Amino acid sequence: MITVIGLGFVGLTTALGFSEKGYRVYGYDIDEKKLNRFKAGEVPFYEPILDKTLQKHSNNNFMMVKNLEDAIKNSEMIFICVGTPSKEDGSVDLSYISEAIKNVLEKICKSQYKVIVIKSTVPPGTTEGIIKPFIESFGFEIGKNIGLTSNPEFLREGYAWEDFMKPDRIVIGEIDNKSGQLIENVYKVFNAPIYRVSLNTAEFIKYLSNTLLATLISYANEQSLIAKSIGSIDIKKAFHILHLDKRWFGEPAAMTSYVYPGCGFGGYCLPKDTKALIKRSKETSYSPKLLESTININESIKDFVVCDVVGKVNKNEKIGILGLAFKPNSDDVRDTPAKAIIQALINKGHKNIIAYDPLAMNNFQETYQLPIVSAASLTSLLSQVKYVVILTSWDEFIENTTIIKEKVVFDYRYLYDLKSSFC
Ligand SMILES: NC(=O)c1ccc[n+]([C@@H]2O[C@H](COP(=O)([O-])OP(=O)(O)OC[C@H]3O[C@@H](n4cnc5c(N)ncnc54)[C@H](O)[C@@H]3O)[C@@H](O)[C@H]2O)c1
Repeated sequence: MITVIGLGFVGLTTALGFSEKGYRVYGYDIDEKKLNRFKAGEVPFYEPILDKTLQKHSNNNFMMVKNLEDAIKNSEMIFICVGTPSKEDGSVDLSYISEAIKNVLEKICKSQYKVIVIKSTVPPGTTEGIIKPFIESFGFEIGKNIGLTSNPEFLREGYAWEDFMKPDRIVIGEIDNKSGQLIENVYKVFNAPIYRVSLNTAEFIKYLSNTLLATLISYANEQSLIAKSIGSIDIKKAFHILHLDKRWFGEPAAMTSYVYPGCGFGGYCLPKDTKALIKRSKETSYSPKLLESTININESIKDFVVCDVVGKVNKNEKIGILGLAFKPNSDDVRDTPAKAIIQALINKGHKNIIAYDPLAMNNFQETYQLPIVSAASLTSLLSQVKYVVILTSWDEFIENTTIIKEKVVFDYRYLYDLKSSFC
C-alpha cells in the first residue's frame, strides 16, 4: 500500500494515478477543509479529469485519512508531495517537508522497512544533505531500517492526469538499492522508461527541465524586445517561421545536440552572429542581457577547461588533445574552442601538447600555427600520452571509448559516463 502526503496538484494526481493502476492508496493533507471537499467528491482546484477519477476511486482504492497512524502502519512507501515555496532570498522553504516527514517518522515502527519518497521539488543536494540527516536524527538508518528516494514529478498543470498516467520518463534518485528497486517495481505498470540515478542527479534533472523552459521563455521575450527596438519586424511571423526549423523535429542534428554541455560554441556563425545582434540592438536602444550572458558564458566555459587541466596536470606532462574542429563532421576551425583552450594552456606553461583530429588537423595547423605536434592517428596519440582532453565530440572518440578510457580523460564533451571522467 501507498500513502501520499499533501494532496495538491501533484499529490492528488499521484494518489489517484496509483489508484487507477490498482494500488490501494491513502491520502493525507494537513488542510482539513481540503480533505472535506475531497470527501464531498470535489477537487478544490481546476484540473481536468481529476474530479471524475476522485469520484471513481474514493473509498475504493483511494482512502482519505485525517489521522496518519493506520495509513503509515499499512504502507510500504510514503510519497511526500507537499509544497516547497520560495523564501524571500530565493532559497526553498523546506518547513512543509520537514513537518510532513516528522509526522510520518513518529508513526513508523523501526522493525518495518518503509520508503520515504520525496516527490516535491527540492534543490540538488537537499535529500542527501538535509533530509537524510533529518531522518537519521530520529534514530533511523537509511538503507537499514528505512528507505529514502527522490522521485521528481514532471506533470504540467492542466495536463496533470495525462502526464502522470503516460509519463515520458520516470526518474528515481537513490542511495540504497533496496528502496530504488521498490519504487521501480511500483512504477513498472506505467510502461515508461525508468532511470535510477543518484539523489542529486534526480533532483538536478527536475531543475534542468524547469530552468531550461524558463530560459527559453526569457530568450523569446528578449528577442521580442530586440525586434521592437530595431523596428518593422513581424514578431509573430518570425517566431512561427523559427518553429519550422527541422532541428525541432529530430534528425539530422536535432535540437537536443544544442542543449548539451561542452566546452563552448564556435565556428563561423554562432559567435559572429550573436555578437552582431547584440551590437545592432544596442545601437537602437535595447541592451540584450541574455545574449550578452550567452557570449560571456561561452568565454567562461573555456576558462574553466583551462583552469581544470592546469590544476590537475603537471606542466611537464604531455597532454593529448582530441578534437580541433568546432564541431564533429566538419574541418572548420574558425573560432573553434580548441584554439583558445590550447593557446591558453601554452600561455600557462603547458608546452608539451600533441593533438589529433580526424579532419581538421591540417586546417588547424595552417590557420593558427601553434607550437603543438600533430598525431597521425588516434592510436598514435594515445601511445604517447597519459592525459587526454576531449574538445570535439567525434564519433571516432565514442567508437574507441575503451582505449581512450585507459588514459586519464578530461571529457569536456561529456561522451562517457561519470566514472570514466577525470573532471
Ligand atoms: N504544480 C505543478 O505543476 C508541479 C509540477 C511538478 C512538481 N511540482 C512540485 O510538487 C510539489 C507540490 O506542488 P503542488 O503544486 O502539488 O502544491 P500544492 O500547493 O497544490 O499542494 C501542496 C499540498 O500540501 C499540503 N501540505 C502542506 N504541508 C503539509 C503537511 N505537513 N502534511 C500534509 N499536507 C501538507 C497543502 O495543504 C497542499 O494541499 C512542489 O514541490 C512543487 O514544486 C509541482
